[in-house]
Amino acid sequence: MRRFVREVDLSPRQLVQPLFYKEGLTRPASVGSMPGVAQLDLDSLQTAARAAAEAGVGGVMLFAVPARRDSCGTAALAEDGALNVAVAAVAEAVAGQTLVMADLCLDEFTDHGHCGVLTADGQVDNDATLQLYAQMGVALAGAGADVVAPSGMMDGQVGAIRAALDAQGHSDTAILAYAAKFASAFYGPFRDAVDSSLVGDRRTYQQDPGNRRDARREVRLDLDEGADMVMVKPAMAYLDVISDTAAMSEVPVLAYQVSGEMAMVEAAAERGWIDREATIRETLTGIRRAGADGIISYWAAEVARDLAAG
Ligand code: PBG
Repeated sequence: MRRFVREVDLSPRQLVQPLFYKEGLTRPASVGSMPGVAQLDLDSLQTAARAAAEAGVGGVMLFAVPARRDSCGTAALAEDGALNVAVAAVAEAVAGQTLVMADLCLDEFTDHGHCGVLTADGQVDNDATLQLYAQMGVALAGAGADVVAPSGMMDGQVGAIRAALDAQGHSDTAILAYAAKFASAFYGPFRDAVDSSLVGDRRTYQQDPGNRRDARREVRLDLDEGADMVMVKPAMAYLDVISDTAAMSEVPVLAYQVSGEMAMVEAAAERGWIDREATIRETLTGIRRAGADGIISYWAAEVARDLAAG
């Protein structure tokens, strides 16, 4: 009876696995604050992408750490830049089996660690950043990304990227918009995973955790600019925002179960304070119940495998 009347299900296709490529590595380097996660070289990246695809995940989300950074994030645009190389390698490995998604943001590529370029007085320059995002979107699509995921919270980013993709013949490349992204303490471990060089915080462009109505406005803007999917991030502390987004969105809603969310569960499980697998399943189910159609999770491939095994 309980099985029959269950309202919300988890299935492998709803899960997206983030993967990190680091330029110059010859073997994987584990990320201390994210148990089970490693920075990968190209070989191990392809292997991890194949394993995730075989587990049946809906997609993989790629991030890259370049060998060199500068004030404008130049390496993000170059065909031989770290993320474009990673996308091409993963597309070669799994294209057509699972979606190849790529983070579209400059923070991994700038020496100051901000998501955009800066003005002379050190503020993030929204409109100058849009032009770079547009070029980066075209580069990622050219490298083989099925989906580009702008995560920098610049105003107008979805519209600018859509226009550039269409103008360059990439009308089939989809945009997964980080629509409601909060300035969150839960991103801490991720910044280790990408060797972040950020000094300060992102409060001039990411949202205030206290603002629910403001999140609806951000989602509305991205929908109007042509987002193909919208995302809420982080997930567990923002279930109300996921629920609001699901109620208003005409396109699929995703949630990002971020690094700090996974680190808390892993750390407590390591101490024997909670049941790791049951807790993971419950967090994912709760995020689905709130209204997410899909979830980006560091546990995606693992859970997909377990689900397939019954
Ligand atoms: C920015 C970006 C961040 C994450 C994904 N994309 C970090 C930030 O905004 O500081 C965080 C993901 C996580 O914590 O798992 N490009």
